Amino acid sequence: MKISFFDLSRQYQLIATEVEQAVTEVVRSGQYIEGPAVKKLEADLATYLGAKNVVTCGNGTDALEIALKACGVEPGDEVITTAFSFFATAEAIAGVGAVPVFADVYEDSYNISVEDIKNKITKRTKAILIVHIFGMPADMDEIVALGKEYGLPVIEDACQAIGATYKGKKAGTLGTIACFSFYPTKNLGAFGDGGMISTDDDRLAEACRAIKAHAAGKLGAKAYEYIYDETIPELADMENMKGDALYDPCKYYNYFIGRNSRLDSIQAAVLQIKLGHLDDFNARRKAIAKKYSERLASTPLKVPTVEYDDRESCWHQYAVLAPDKEGLSTYLGSKGIGTGSFYPVPLHLQRAFKDLGYTEGSLPVAESLCKRSVCLPVFPELTDEEVDYIIDMIIEYFK
Ligand SMILES: Cc1ncc(COP(=O)(O)O)c(C=O)c1O
Repeated sequence: MKISFFDLSRQYQLIATEVEQAVTEVVRSGQYIEGPAVKKLEADLATYLGAKNVVTCGNGTDALEIALKACGVEPGDEVITTAFSFFATAEAIAGVGAVPVFADVYEDSYNISVEDIKNKITKRTKAILIVHIFGMPADMDEIVALGKEYGLPVIEDACQAIGATYKGKKAGTLGTIACFSFYPTKNLGAFGDGGMISTDDDRLAEACRAIKAHAAGKLGAKAYEYIYDETIPELADMENMKGDALYDPCKYYNYFIGRNSRLDSIQAAVLQIKLGHLDDFNARRKAIAKKYSERLASTPLKVPTVEYDDRESCWHQYAVLAPDKEGLSTYLGSKGIGTGSFYPVPLHLQRAFKDLGYTEGSLPVAESLCKRSVCLPVFPELTDEEVDYIIDMIIEYFK
């Protein structure tokens, strides 16, 4: 049997008719950027999450940089984040000129350690950027309490966590602001790149909207006032100005350095269709995870807990800890089964961050997870027969 680590073409077959119709409508409409399809998607995503504001953008990495900037993170500031994540989490911090300060994680959840966040807070700390890794919500009550105690915004990297819940609320509505990715393999994936930011804070949302569009016009001026706490005298006049058909005097004034980060209408149309299926897809991922954890519990693998009282993962990844990661992956590969190595290197030991001075042993749990974690296929279109085959092959490996 041949089972890829993920197979996007299977999902496409399920939704092809709906998607092709929606894409055709956009193509015929002539509105390809920030049109009605994007506005509708933002409204529906806000309803889905239970968030006051959703601002779409070009990808998850941009979402993180935009959120950091909107929170006032500036060059030289420190941002505390997890050592166990995809590179983009820390890259975004460096991207706004700040310094990532890495905290260790818990072995059971792979999520950031609350105690280690506390250890790492200094006078230069400007924000806490947590990740709901593999779709499992982090310990948000404790993290938000720390944020309040030290006056720090809590940014959620929810790029892997759309649909996950914590104490009945959706991941992405738990901190100050949250960032999502619509990369094709994500639980809600576009047919290209895409991302979004969610927040209940209207001014923060407005600042993000300004940053993603060159910090221009009234929105740019308002964002400047909000982020830099400085008044722009001409803003009062601008509130009454109206552009004409040829030239909008507000649009071509820029107040600080933003960027261009927009979601295409075609991607919005695809995401709109997939959003309608998201809860079903996530439920199927959970059923697969449950089966893996039940049947693999008797092997030497450490399997993730599936049922928690207070939170529910959306099972973006299903990761086991193996005594011999390489051996297990190679064996499964020889049986036609694709696996993922998330993540082979912890962020603090990435060569890109060598100047930060971390060494082997600095964050032992994250390092140990990287040596042992193997991700098994968990995409919703896997058949029961395939899941059983994967489990049987793992059991056979350990015999
Ligand atoms: C945890 C995490 N953060 C950030 C990103 C970046 O998202 P994107 O690839 O859309 O830029 C990803 C996914 O790729 C991710 O998994």
